[in-house]
Amino acid sequence: MPYDIYAEKIILNYEHPHNKGVLKDADTRFKEYNQVCGDEIEVYIKINNKKIKDIKFIGRGCAISMASASMITDFIKGKSIKEIEEYNVDTVKNILGMDPGPVRMKCATLSLRAIKEAVEKYKLEK
Ligand code: FES
Repeated sequence: MPYDIYAEKIILNYEHPHNKGVLKDADTRFKEYNQVCGDEIEVYIKINNKKIKDIKFIGRGCAISMASASMITDFIKGKSIKEIEEYNVDTVKNILGMDPGPVRMKCATLSLRAIKEAVEKYKLEK
């Protein structure tokens, strides 16, 4: 896929984010900040049988952080806790279909960091 199609996908996800909102019956939640800009994302996750049953997020941030939250939350549904623990920067590049570069990578991984922390918190509390 050419680069501009990936860029278009990011703009679409920024303008029309998927999974935006709060899960009232979430099993775990976590708010993560980007220390550099102060932007934040809070994720709400419902877990069943060690798998992500549902996920939503709220927050504010740049186009990359919001678009990647939309795309990553789509991707994460149905995945196991073990799979999530293994996801990293390369996973985010694959989901976005591009490498946003070292500076924007902190924006792109904001939601994944929140998801990983929420899952870790869930494991500690169980
Ligand atoms: Fe704040 Fe991207 S500039 S998350």
